[in-house]
Amino acid sequence: MPSLQQYHTFSLASNCASIVEFDSVDSFLNAYNPTVNTYILGGGSNSVFLNDFDGVVLVNKIKGISHYDTESHHHISVGAGEDWHEFVSLCMQNEWFGLENLALIPGSVGASPIQNIGAYGVEIHAFIDSIEAILLETKEPFLIKGADCQFGYRDSIFKHALYGKALITKVNFTLPKEYEVVATYGELAVMDSPTALDIYNKVIEVRKAKLPDPKQLGNAGSFFKNPVVSLTHFEELKRVHFDIPSYPVSENQVKVPAAWLIDKTGFKGKALNDVRCHPTQPLVLTNIGNAQGGDLIALAKQIMHAVESEFKILLEPEVRLVGKEGLISL
Ligand code: FAD
Ligand code: EPU
Repeated sequence: MPSLQQYHTFSLASNCASIVEFDSVDSFLNAYNPTVNTYILGGGSNSVFLNDFDGVVLVNKIKGISHYDTESHHHISVGAGEDWHEFVSLCMQNEWFGLENLALIPGSVGASPIQNIGAYGVEIHAFIDSIEAILLETKEPFLIKGADCQFGYRDSIFKHALYGKALITKVNFTLPKEYEVVATYGELAVMDSPTALDIYNKVIEVRKAKLPDPKQLGNAGSFFKNPVVSLTHFEELKRVHFDIPSYPVSENQVKVPAAWLIDKTGFKGKALNDVRCHPTQPLVLTNIGNAQGGDLIALAKQIMHAVESEFKILLEPEVRLVGKEGLISL
C-alpha cells in the first residue's frame, strides 16, 4: 500500500489503496472511478489522513497560468494544481497586486476557494471571478461564478451543495488595477504607507515567525476555526475574562480568537505523545515525531472539552480529517 505521509503536511504515517497524480482533465477522468472510494487532494495542507484510507487518492497537478488585461483589471486563469504561494509570488513579480496578504499560505490554487482562504484582513473570494470544474457524477464541465459560491469565513458552496461532487480544474481571478493595500491587521497596521510588496514581505516575515514550517514540523495550520459567538454570550464572558479579545462580525455577533481560548485553558505547549499544541500559536497542533491519528483526535477533543467547559464555546475543526472511509467529524 503506498504511503500518504509525504502527501499531507501533518505527515502522519498512513497508507491508501493507490495514489494517482493527474495533470489534465483527461488524465483525471481516466483515473476516476465513481464506484471506488476517492479523495481528491491538492497540497494536503488542510487534510489529515488519521490512519489508513481505504480508497484511492487522486492528486491534482493541473498546471498552466494565462493572463490578459483590460484598462481596469488583470484577468488571470490558473490551473488548479498550481502552487498557491508560487502564484502569489508571480503576481508580485508582474505587479498584479491584491493577493499580497495571502502570501505563504501552503497548498494548491484549486483548494483556495474551497475554504475561501484568508489571512491578514483579506479573503480570496474578493478576487475570484469564476471557477471551472467537473461534476463528478456526470463528468461534465461547468463554470460557477464567484458570486454564486456562497463564500463565508472558511466556507463556500464546495463544503455544502457541491461537497464531494466536483473537481475544481481552474480558478479565474480578477485583480483591479486601482486598489488600496489592506493594512488593517495587527502587525501590518503599524507599517508606514506600505506598498503591496512591503505587505507581501511583511506577511512572509510574520508568518515565518509565528507558524511552524510544515517541512520541518508536521502541521495543518489552524486546527480549529475562530468561533463566532453572540454579543450577549461575549458580554457574559467579558464580565469574567475582561481581557478576552474579539473582532466584530455583525451587529450582534463577534469572532473570538480560538488561540486565546486555548491559551487560557493551559494547553499551549502541552503534548499528548507526539502531538503538541504549538508553543507560540496554540491554534496549531503539530507532529513532533511519530504522531498517531488517535493521539491527534484525543488531544483535539481534550482541547474542545476544556474550551467548552470554561467558555461554553464549541470549537469546530478547520482541517479536513480523513479516516478509513473518508471525511470524519469530531
Ligand atoms: P488539500 O488539503 O489538498 O485539500 C483541502 C480540501 O479541498 C480537501 O477536502 C480536498 O478534497 C479538497 N480539494 C483540494 N483540491 C481540490 C480540487 N481541485 N477540486 C475539488 N476539491 C479539492 N488557510 C487559510 O485560509 N489561511 C491561512 O493563513 C492558512 N495558513 C496555513 C498555514 C500552514 C502552516 C498550513 C499547513 C496551512 C494553512 N492554511 C491556511 C490551510 C491550507 O493551507 C489551505 O486550506 C489551503 O487552501 C489548502 O490547500 P491544499 O491544496 O493543501 O488542500
Ligand atoms: N493569541 C493568544 N495566544 C497565543 C497566540 C495568539 O492569545 O499564543 C491570540 C491573540 O489575541 C492574537 C489572536 O490570538 O491577537 C490571533 O492570533 P493570530 O493573529 O496569530 O491569528 P489567528 O486568529 O490565530 C487566523 C487564521 C490564520 C491566519 C491568521 C492571520 C483562523 C482559524 N486562522 O489565525 O489562518 O493566518 O489569522 O490572518 O482563522 C489557517 O487557517 O490555517 C491559518 C493559519
